[in-house]
Amino acid sequence: MATVDTDFNYETIKIEREEGGITWLILNRPDKRNAMSPQLHADCDDALYRLATDAKTRVLILTGAGDAYCAGQDLRLFFRGTDNAPRQRFEAAQNSHSWRWSRLSKFPKTTIAMVNGFCFGGAFTHLIGCDLAIAADEAVFGLSEVNWGIIPGGVVSWNVTQVMNQRDAMYYSMTGDPFDGKVAAKIGLVNSSVPKSELREETLKLARKMAEKNTATVRFTKEGIRMVRDMTEAQAADYLAAKSDALRFHDTEGGREVAMRQFLDEKVFRPGLGNYIREDSAGQKSAAKG
Ligand code: ACO
Repeated sequence: MATVDTDFNYETIKIEREEGGITWLILNRPDKRNAMSPQLHADCDDALYRLATDAKTRVLILTGAGDAYCAGQDLRLFFRGTDNAPRQRFEAAQNSHSWRWSRLSKFPKTTIAMVNGFCFGGAFTHLIGCDLAIAADEAVFGLSEVNWGIIPGGVVSWNVTQVMNQRDAMYYSMTGDPFDGKVAAKIGLVNSSVPKSELREETLKLARKMAEKNTATVRFTKEGIRMVRDMTEAQAADYLAAKSDALRFHDTEGGREVAMRQFLDEKVFRPGLGNYIREDSAGQKSAAKG
């Protein structure tokens, strides 16, 4: 049962807490299908900055209140509202890019997008900014920019080419055709889709699995996967070697050594089948994870 965290008090978003280190960031303009206003960008930017080092957060789930995930940029407030206000446009654009891409794609804990409904245009950036994504079968996605005379800007075009193949990226951005959660899963835009009635539980199941993992290892793994895409093989090999060494410095659980001892000497777990058994500083084992 999630509870609202009143220390995180915002006009356009809600922060809720679930047991086990799971935090919800909920876009909360349901009457406007969670379209992104300048205020929402400022709220999300601040919240993600704070949550990055929040000790209570091991996994972050991003979703929308009501029937929509996010209907893209708010055409009235983000576009028309700042057309003749360069300072406000600049500030909104900075915040918009900062939280949807810079902060989310570098967020130091697992991030999951739970696509509960409409997901259009600029919402693709934070969808793809999240590490993992689950959609309702009934969700409606669309690169609708072409329908009203603009291109998938910000960095949407760049985002979609990272997860969609060239034909799908071309097709959906050129036609603006909407598609559902099942198609989104089939083309790899989300990891999976489930009936809307099962969406929350399915997402929480994934979040709980990730919350049980060694957070330093998860962080270095996701950073590695994102970074090596644009490297040569030689750069990737060197980067990953340095990254592996850095993980041993950052991992206060000493997971690598604990896991090796438990597998090779104590024979109490199978790395291929699940997590090693957490130990406290005195070496006492807690419940098996994984
Ligand atoms: N910007 C501003 N207001 C919006 C947006 C948006 N992107 N999306 C929805 N709203 C508002 C509507 O204007 C309406 O406001 P009102 O009640 O004050 O009139 C309210 O949200 C509800 O919208 P409806 O259209 O009545 O809701 P419906 O459920 O019938 O349709 C849908 C939802 C399909 C999402 C529709 O609102 C829509 O097409 N929205 C625009 C989607 C889009 O193309 N987004 C922009 C992508 S491009 C970009 O992000 C750069």
